[in-house]
Amino acid sequence: MDSMVTCIAPVNIAVIKYWGKRDEKLILPLNDSVSGTLSTDQMHAKTTVMRCKDFTEDKIWLNGKEVSFSNPRLLSCMKEIRRLSRESGTSEDIVNTKVHICSENNFPTAAGLASSAAGYACLVFALKELFGVKQDITRVARLGSGSACRSIYGGFVRWHKGDLADGSDSIATQIAPPSHWPLHVFILVVNDKQKKIGSTPGMQRTALTSELVQYRIKESVPKRIEDIIQAVKERNFDKFAEITMKDSNQFHAVCLDTYPPNIYMNDISHEITSFVHTYNELFPKPKVAYTFDAGPNACIYLEEESVPDFAATLQYIFPPEETLESYFKGESVQFGTVNEGL
Ligand code: DP6
Repeated sequence: MDSMVTCIAPVNIAVIKYWGKRDEKLILPLNDSVSGTLSTDQMHAKTTVMRCKDFTEDKIWLNGKEVSFSNPRLLSCMKEIRRLSRESGTSEDIVNTKVHICSENNFPTAAGLASSAAGYACLVFALKELFGVKQDITRVARLGSGSACRSIYGGFVRWHKGDLADGSDSIATQIAPPSHWPLHVFILVVNDKQKKIGSTPGMQRTALTSELVQYRIKESVPKRIEDIIQAVKERNFDKFAEITMKDSNQFHAVCLDTYPPNIYMNDISHEITSFVHTYNELFPKPKVAYTFDAGPNACIYLEEESVPDFAATLQYIFPPEETLESYFKGESVQFGTVNEGL
C-alpha cells in the first residue's frame, strides 16, 4: 500500500500575461492567458511524494528544509486531490494515508522566474499519480498558483479564465504540442534575488487601483488571445513576436498604473528591450521577442535559425565579464512537456 512517485516539471513563460484575480481563494483570473512550456533540461522543479501507513501527518520539505504544512494553497491542493481520488474510485485507506513531500527547484525561487508554476505543477502531477486521480488536474494546480495550471501541458498552452463561480471551467488546454513549433527561449537573468513585490499582492493591488487593467481585460486581451493562437497555429513568428512584446509592455504599464506602482523592470531590463528592438530593425521582420514577468529578468523567444546570430550579438553587447557578475546568465531552453521527467 505504501508508494512513492517522483516527477520533474518545467516552467512556463507567458506571452499573454495573467495579472489580476476575481476570486483569491479559488485563484480565478480576470483574463485568459497563453504561455510556452519550456523543456525540463535546464530550469525545472523536482518533487517526490510518498504515502505510508506509518506516517502520522502530512509533511513537506522545500529545497531541503522542512516547512509548515499550513500554507492555505497547499492545503487546498491536498484537499482537492483527496476528493478527486475518492471520486476516481481509490480506496478510502489510500485516500486517507498521510504524505511526505520533498520538492526542489534548480533555479532561484521567487525571483520572477516562474518557480511557483513549476513547483505546484510538479506537486499536483506527482500527487495525481500517487492517489490514482483520473480527472483533469489543471484546476488543482491552479489552486496552488494560477500560472501552474499551464505547466501541466507542454508546447503552447491557454488558461481559460472561465465564467463559473466554482472555477470548474477555469482550466488549461494545449494549443499546440512542443513538436509543432520548437521555439527557443533565452532567460536573461538580470537579478536572481527575491522580487520586491510578489505576484499575489502585486496583482491584488492592481485589481484594486488600476484603471488601465479594465481596458486590458476587456479590450486588449480577448483579441490578443485569438491572434496569438492563430500566430502559433500558422508558425507566424512575426505576428507572434509583435503580440508578445506588446502584451509584456502593457502588463508593465498596468503595473505602473497601479497605486502605489509595482515596479518590476530595472534599467538593465529597459536596455535589453531597446537592444531587442534595435536588433529586430536590422531585418525585414522581427527575429526575437522579449517578455518580462513580475521581475527584471528577460525571456527572449526566438526561432532555431536565429539562435547563433542573436547569441553572438548578445555576447558582444553584454560581454561575458559583465554577464557573470551583475548582468545575466543567458540560457537557451527548448520546449518540453511535463511528462518528460517521469
Ligand atoms: C507575471 O501564478 O505567480 O508571471 O496565482 O498569485 O500564485 P498566483 O500568481 P502567479 O502569477 C504569475 C504572473 C506572471 C504572468 C503569467 O505567468 O501569466
